[in-house]
Amino acid sequence: MHKIYSIPLDIMQGTDDVLFDYIVNCISKFLEYIGMKGVSLPLGFTFSFPCHQNRLNEAILLKWTKGFKATGCEGEDVVCLLRDAIRRREEFDLNVVAVVNDTVGTMMSCGFEDPYCEVGLIVGTGSNACYMEEMKNVELVEGDEGRMCINMEWGSFGDNGCLDDIRTEFDVVVDENSLNAGKQRFEKMISGMYLGEIVRNILIRFTERGLLFRGRISERLKTRGIFETKFLSQIESDHLALVQVHSILQRLGLESTCDDRIIVKEVCTVIARRAGQLCGAGMAAVVDKIRENRGMDFLKITVGVDGSLYKFHPHFSSVMHETVKQLSPKCEVTFLQSEDGSGKGAALITAVACRIREAGQH
Ligand code: GLC
Repeated sequence: MHKIYSIPLDIMQGTDDVLFDYIVNCISKFLEYIGMKGVSLPLGFTFSFPCHQNRLNEAILLKWTKGFKATGCEGEDVVCLLRDAIRRREEFDLNVVAVVNDTVGTMMSCGFEDPYCEVGLIVGTGSNACYMEEMKNVELVEGDEGRMCINMEWGSFGDNGCLDDIRTEFDVVVDENSLNAGKQRFEKMISGMYLGEIVRNILIRFTERGLLFRGRISERLKTRGIFETKFLSQIESDHLALVQVHSILQRLGLESTCDDRIIVKEVCTVIARRAGQLCGAGMAAVVDKIRENRGMDFLKITVGVDGSLYKFHPHFSSVMHETVKQLSPKCEVTFLQSEDGSGKGAALITAVACRIREAGQH
């Protein structure tokens, strides 16, 4: 059973206590909903941000991404923050057994169904991947035997300037106006939180040059974040005389001609296509690295995927699949879509950790 609770903006950007009290409040509501109010249970925590992890149940938040900026969390162990909030509530005793990135949770839950699943991918608000690396290549951890899952945090690819050649003026503006300027540059070219904003900036530039809307920019179009990424999905699904495009533009205070609508749709197509290709290029590099690690001529592998852009955009996933096929011809890659996989994966890891712990006690 699962239920989704969204975190309001003021809580995302408030303080550590307020954020974690809110999370614990959601857990309490959920327990009540399933008729298990006040019980003591082991807990797996999916925490989808870059962390330094020394143990399964310890994760020091390195930096917030995706519009979060609650104070007092960066540099702290989020498991401690969660435990403190659970204690403050004095309602239940939840034992935080594992903290897991969403990519890892997704890979684990898909791996439960498909043993070839050794990669996890998220393309939602943010974008990231994880994969199984050979222990002998993991310098930070002792031992050379077996494999270990690596959370790549690929969203921050490009933060050292290596993507500068392909970033456009629009990528630069979107980055500069974001909460974490200079960070997560790859993510900002791919994921749901940013694609609408890229399109909005292009539309403004086109209008300034007199190429759209008879050169008139509406006040609403000047508002940051107003062009939602779901508009990209809606516009690209629109085949009937671009009626949707017309109504979306109207809501943004823009009177459009037929030509305007065709151009707007083309901008959306190009931006989503570029995102799919970039994501596909990243994924091709990952699967080909796994193949090379194993000294194989050909690798069959499955990628567990989740995220709203991947699931709901009408073309993103097919562009990405096609790109992976072209760029990694020596791999046969299957994409397995997960349903709330990151939560289930964390639960699975927690169950295994509990079992191992119990076995150790006997
Ligand atoms: C951001 C986070 C990362 C997460 C991804 C997808 O890139 O830093 O940890 O996996 O978003 O949610």
